[in-house]
Amino acid sequence: AIDIGKLNKETGYFTFDPGFMATAATRSAVTFIDGDAGVLLYRGYPIDQLAKQSSFLEVAYLLINGELPDKAKFSAFEDEVTHHTMMHEALKNFLHGFHYDAHPMAILCASIASLSAFYHDTLDLNDPEQRRLAAIRLIAKMPTIAAAAYRYSIGWPIRYPRNNLDYVTRFLHMMFEVPSEPLELSPVAAKALDLLFILHADHEQNASTSTVRLVGSTGANPYACVAAGIAALWGPAHGGANEAVLKMLGEIGDAKNVGKAVEKAKDKNSGFRLMGFGHRVYKNFDPRATIIREMCHKVLNDLHVNDPLLDVAMELEQAALKDSYFVERKLYPNVDFYSGIIYKALKIPTEMFTVMFAIARTAGWVAHWLEQHTDPETKIGRPRQIYTGAVKRDYVELAKR
Ligand code: ACO
Repeated sequence: AIDIGKLNKETGYFTFDPGFMATAATRSAVTFIDGDAGVLLYRGYPIDQLAKQSSFLEVAYLLINGELPDKAKFSAFEDEVTHHTMMHEALKNFLHGFHYDAHPMAILCASIASLSAFYHDTLDLNDPEQRRLAAIRLIAKMPTIAAAAYRYSIGWPIRYPRNNLDYVTRFLHMMFEVPSEPLELSPVAAKALDLLFILHADHEQNASTSTVRLVGSTGANPYACVAAGIAALWGPAHGGANEAVLKMLGEIGDAKNVGKAVEKAKDKNSGFRLMGFGHRVYKNFDPRATIIREMCHKVLNDLHVNDPLLDVAMELEQAALKDSYFVERKLYPNVDFYSGIIYKALKIPTEMFTVMFAIARTAGWVAHWLEQHTDPETKIGRPRQIYTGAVKRDYVELAKR
């Protein structure tokens, strides 16, 4: 194979690839995607098999360790994650510094970055045990901090993690438990959330994971790396799309307005895109979207929710799939087209949707961060540029300008 790095050094040439459409920044053994065939594998296992048979925490183990655990290994992993779910009491002071209407993604991003101030021991990045512990802490604390961000934003007291519950149920308790009222959680809700977490757990070198790796390549603290990933995830072109989809469906309001929305999305001057449509890698269909669509119908049915937004979504999908603009550009519903409707049925507020994505993607972020730190080929990420500024010129004193 041609050593591009060496060639560039010798010739002074480099590739110009805005958006990294055709540039692999790393080797990775975590996740495989075939965008044309609609295939997604975590460590070789098809996403539909994991969605049907596994759990989020088992998937997190798989992503991090490369193999599915046996019973003893899974139990030890679950115990360890459970042991690290508490957040330091001093973190509450950070929360109280935010304005009451702060977006929970802002609170999450800042709070996760602040963990680097609490765990100095992880600064020895040469110690695999310390790296592993940082990964466990991030997976364990993310739901606790996420739920705290939500409760703070609505003025409710923070709930501590109940360690006799499983990962997903524990999170739902921290979100919704109110003093003196027993929380009745439907197993359908916990199962649905677990499945959504599995589907969002990793997606190879997406913008947020690449951000984690870029920051990681400098040797930065893992909590700072993941905070950077959260910031990248927040944008509406990435994880923020699930929140944007629900807003869009609400604005369309009724299946009869779908035609107008499709026309507007085709008009480049409108500045409007169909949120939840299109993907950089999937040019056939997003296999996660197929699973989520099916699940969306089941959850609404099982929870007896009649949401008119589902009708709008189905009508929109049908209209776009028939329209040559979307067909020619291979724009299909992505993972986030239906996920918001499910979150809404689970009573998760809209501004928490991207936070939910962040909880799940933490498994992928830390798996990639760990992989990067054992890869002898890891170098500081330092792209080049095509300079378009002024040519060399001489400074003119202020009085003479
Ligand atoms: N609605 C209308 N037109 C679209 C859409 C859309 N959702 N997505 C892409 N297009 C059009 C573009 O205008 C462009 O048209 P052109 O060739 O005539 O110029 C063409 O399709 C290709 O689009 P690009 O923006 O070049 O594709 P890219 O791979 O860079 O972007 C992206 C992918 C960001 C996902 C894009 O499809 C988009 O903005 N979608 C809406 C936001 C969204 O759902 N994001 C979630 C992504 S999945 C995730 O992160 C979980």
